[in-house]
Order: sequence, then C-alpha cells, then structure tokens
Amino acid sequence: MAYETIIVDVENHVALITLNRPDALNALSDHLLTELADAMSACQANEKVRCIVLTGSEKAFAAGADIAMMRDKTFVEAFSGDLFTPETEQILRVRKPIIAAVSGYALGGGAELAMMCDFIICSETAKFGQPEINLGVMAGIGGTQRLTRFVGKSKAMDMNLTGRFMDADEAERSGLVSRVVSTKKLLDEALGAAHKIAEKSMITTMAIKESVNRSYEVSLREGLLFERRVFHSLFATEDQSEGMSAFLEKREAQFRDR
Ligand code: HXC
Repeated sequence: MAYETIIVDVENHVALITLNRPDALNALSDHLLTELADAMSACQANEKVRCIVLTGSEKAFAAGADIAMMRDKTFVEAFSGDLFTPETEQILRVRKPIIAAVSGYALGGGAELAMMCDFIICSETAKFGQPEINLGVMAGIGGTQRLTRFVGKSKAMDMNLTGRFMDADEAERSGLVSRVVSTKKLLDEALGAAHKIAEKSMITTMAIKESVNRSYEVSLREGLLFERRVFHSLFATEDQSEGMSAFLEKREAQFRDR
C-alpha cells in the first residue's frame, strides 16, 4: 500500500518503516499516526515480516506531535475524540518486535513513540526530550510513565519539568537506549539486530516480547509466574526440540515457528 507520510520497505523478513515528513521534522500528525498504525498492523498480518525497524531522518526521528494540528483543539475534542489513543493502542497490539532507530531529535510524542518500541538504538546525535511543558501541556503517550520506568523518577521529573534534552551518552547511561552508534552505522546496526531476531523462532520471539512487557504490568511474583508458565509452554513446540537438538548436534537450528 502507498503511504504519504511514511515509507515501508520489506526485505529479508524485516520491515523498515521510515517516518517521512521532512518539512516538519516528522511531527506526528493525525495522518501520519493513522498511516503508521495501519502499517504496523499490516506488518503484524504479513507472514513475511518477522521484525520491524522504525526510523526517521538523520535530523529527526520525530520532533513531537504536530503542534499546528493541536493548537486549536479544545478539551472536549481531545477528550471525546480520545486524542492519540486508537493509533497508539494499535501500535502496542503488534506482537512482533519493533526496534526504534533514532537519529537527531526524538522529542515529546517522538520520544514517546520510540519508547513504545521494544528497544531503542540511537546515533551519537540523538536528543531525547519531553519539552511539552514549554507548550503549556505535558506528555500524553508515555513521557511521564514509560520514561520514568526507563530512567527513574529523578531524571524523568527533570526532563518533564525543565524540558531539557538528553543526549545519546546520557540516554545510554540511563538505560533509555540499548546501543549508541555513529549516524552512518545506525540503520545497519538496527537492521542487523532485526535480521538476527528474524532468524529465531517467531513463537519464542513473541513469547519473550510478551513476558518482558508483562513486567511493566504486574508484581514481580506474578511476572515470574507468568514467565515460568510461558517458558513451560515452549516445551510444546517443535522449535524447542530443534533448538536444543541443534546445539547438541553442533549444527545451526532450523526453526519452523511450530
Ligand atoms: C509541528 C514542527 C514540530 C512539531 C518542528 N516543526 N517540530 N511542526 N509540530 N512538533 C516544524 C517547524 O515549525 C518548522 O516548520 C520545521 O519543522 C523545522 O523546524 P525548526 O524549528 O525550524 O528547526 P530547528 O530550528 O532545527 O529546531 C528543531 C527543534 C524545534 C528544536 C526540534 O523544531 C522544536 O523545538 N520543535 C518542537 C519540539 C516540541 O515541542 N515537541 C513536542 C510537541 S508536543 P517551518 O514551516 O517553519 O519550516 C507533543 C505532545 C505529545 O509531542 C503528546 C502525545 C503525543
């Protein structure tokens, strides 16, 4: 399907989704978010896709929700239209792994979108921030919740209350991103990780995504029980038998997602 604000390429079982509103630093308009949510659902449904990489431009992953789109909104419109809820819930329903490859600005809704992905790889130029306070509003899709879980209360408060940006070094130190690479290497690094994931058993991959995400929702005891039961259930798969046999027979595993 042809999109106007994003570009989707599927190659070797990996979908690369590129945010593409260069004139507005990939600001998240209604249209972009609808297209992105639609593309994510299409990737979930497409058997050829085993992992997704979400990226922007060198200058900006996304500089936030579209301020021009939001300026004249009333409370009633935002609340009764449930602004940003349908699209973000659709993205969160994707069970395949999503890697955010961030270069340049990831601000406001842009940072929050990156945090909705399963992990973030960024370039040395990345700048994360929740500057909504400068616009008289606050984060609305995870900047006070996910960011706090990533970097802890002190930094989350600092970022949300002052609107300051966090650079790539600080983001790596604080656990917001998993890797920092040069801008030149960013896409190769993210696609390399995605291809590695794409080689594994899809059943196991989805089980891991679900288990790690569960840790955000439940107590440690409940999370450990959930993890153990999912672990047990993987012994019902052919891929468990294949993976362990391949190790013992000193050969590459041939996973079949069964
Ligand atoms: C709409 C935006 C935009 C945004 C940039 N642009 N960010 N348009 N919404 N969030 C547009 C500019 O208006 C400008 O358009 C063009 O992109 C280039 O931006 P410049 O400001 O000229 O670039 P630069 O001087 O390099 O500054 C880069 C920047 C700055 C520091 C990232 O653009 C900036 O501060 N942007 C806003 C960041 C922000 O506040 N984000 C949070 C948004 S609220 P023209 O037409 O003039 O060339 C939010 C709410 C989340 O995200 C709640 C839930 C989703």
